[in-house]
Amino acid sequence: MKEIQLNPQQLEAISHRDGPMVVLSVVGSGKTMVLTERIIHLIEEYGINPTNLLAITFAKKAVLEIQSRLEKRLNGNVDKAMVCTFHSLGYRILKAEGYPISGFRLVHDGQQMNIFRQAMDKADIKEEPSLLLSRISLAKNDLISPSDLEKSDEPEDRKLSKVYCCYELLKKRKRLVDFDDLLYLPYQLFREDKRILEYYQSRFQHILVDEFQDSSKVMVELVKLLSETHNNLWLAGDDDQSIHSFRGARSDIFVSFDKEYGSNTKTITMSHNYRSTKNILKAANTLISHNKVRVKKEMVTNNEDGEEIEILEADNEIEEAGLIANRIVDLCSEGYRFNDIAILVRVHRLMPLIEAALIKEKISYNSYGGFLYNRRDTKTVITIMKDLISGDPSGGIDTDLLGRIRTGIFDHYEKISFAESFDIAACYMSIKPNDEEDEEERKLKSLYLDAFEYLLSPLQNLDDLADFIKEAQRVNSISSNGKVNLMTIHQAKGLEFKCVLVPGLNEGILPHINSIQQLVNLEEERRLAYVAITRAMERLFISYRRRQNGQPITLPSRFIAELSA
Ligand SMILES: Nc1ncnc2c1ncn2[C@@H]1O[C@H](COP(=O)(O)OP(=O)(O)O)[C@@H](O)[C@H]1O
Ligand SMILES: [Mg+2]
Repeated sequence: MKEIQLNPQQLEAISHRDGPMVVLSVVGSGKTMVLTERIIHLIEEYGINPTNLLAITFAKKAVLEIQSRLEKRLNGNVDKAMVCTFHSLGYRILKAEGYPISGFRLVHDGQQMNIFRQAMDKADIKEEPSLLLSRISLAKNDLISPSDLEKSDEPEDRKLSKVYCCYELLKKRKRLVDFDDLLYLPYQLFREDKRILEYYQSRFQHILVDEFQDSSKVMVELVKLLSETHNNLWLAGDDDQSIHSFRGARSDIFVSFDKEYGSNTKTITMSHNYRSTKNILKAANTLISHNKVRVKKEMVTNNEDGEEIEILEADNEIEEAGLIANRIVDLCSEGYRFNDIAILVRVHRLMPLIEAALIKEKISYNSYGGFLYNRRDTKTVITIMKDLISGDPSGGIDTDLLGRIRTGIFDHYEKISFAESFDIAACYMSIKPNDEEDEEERKLKSLYLDAFEYLLSPLQNLDDLADFIKEAQRVNSISSNGKVNLMTIHQAKGLEFKCVLVPGLNEGILPHINSIQQLVNLEEERRLAYVAITRAMERLFISYRRRQNGQPITLPSRFIAELSA
């Protein structure tokens, strides 16, 4: 454990008594540590009751991290309710107030798409649903209602207003709320019912928000409203780490917050990075200096130079996953534990092959997308394989469809080999209609099936398969060495690990294919790469593939060159 000697800026931010404060500081400068210490200070030194405190951050993992730090410092005497995400705060308010309808449920992804398709039918609009849905999500985060859009001069906006309206009605009828409603509805509630607003305003004497650069307009307005009575709003963030503009985040509001919120807003900057080695910081700073829209900040560190960053080149995506797994084995032989290590990916679709490589190398890992062999699709595939080989169909599977595929692929009915049974099952999974899946999920499913096939290839029969899965589960249940963390870069925000591996540094992956054309989006991709590499304390590995999907060439990411020039 590192010795912590607070610097003067940190001390000031922790012990600040009343009035608004903005802590706009560099990565790894102790913003989250200061937020945690400030909560303790408010309770222990200023006698604030924990029920009168509200601390908000973005990711669930970050909430858990802050709660566990508080638990340690306050000897378990923690009111966990005071630390939450914006969305869980909204959920709690809606539940407590029974608004807009009591007993509502949160819509799940597939269900949401279903309802949205119905709304499009009702509005008689034929377009790519996910695109329209994300435009509605952005509108809600920007506090734009269907009637605002209806007044617009743009025909596109008026069209959107129609679907938006139908979608809201359908949800209301089914007593469902979506993720964005968890912010939008409490805001509406507060605007409509002063009595309720006043209750929360008087309750929350101090409001603290971490990662404020990722707040959307509705979030900003919510905390502004809530802090009106006591005027104790404390915000920490770093515009270089703003990675949610696709969901309406407005780091511009954060950057100019002190000027707009009120003249007594105090600003603190912390420029000392305590997290990473000089080599990692040098690369991170060189990379982010390529962004044009940013607040320039000084960054200093007393940390050692550390090891050089390693850039790994693989021929293709399978080889790359293998390289990642091999590096993890090497790191462990150097003395690192599995839970010192994180693999951070830009998109979920990089996960299946990496999982397969980790399973092959007997590396125990936490996957925030669910384990390959525990997925429902994988289990269905195994059931089908068993049925086909034993010739004894079981319930739940469309035997007609299966029969047709079987006849189509193999004319011999009786004897189906292990490998053939997988082919038929995979074909079944790709044909079987599933209304709740969107395009992205379908693609992901097929990648997980490919990864599963890759793992199956050396096996001979169902007994081997059963042994194989048992072994993978056994490996993952061993916790003595912790687990490698496999997650998306978005999920890793605010966290830190001794060793970080970032695969898929290719054009089209990071930067993402949809973001290459526009400067604002490209800059957000660069911030994502920046967030990924600044999670690392000691060791950083970046990898790319020269080919993928059997294509002849895939370019390395421009961000690799930008690490050093
Ligand atoms: N004054 C300090 N002395 C030593 N380590 C510190 C100090 N301040 C912060 N740290 C450590 O630096 C790391 C980064 O802190 P964190 O609060 O996560 O930064 P941020 O939220 O700004 O990215 C943590 O490991 C934290 O314990
Ligand atoms: Mg932080």
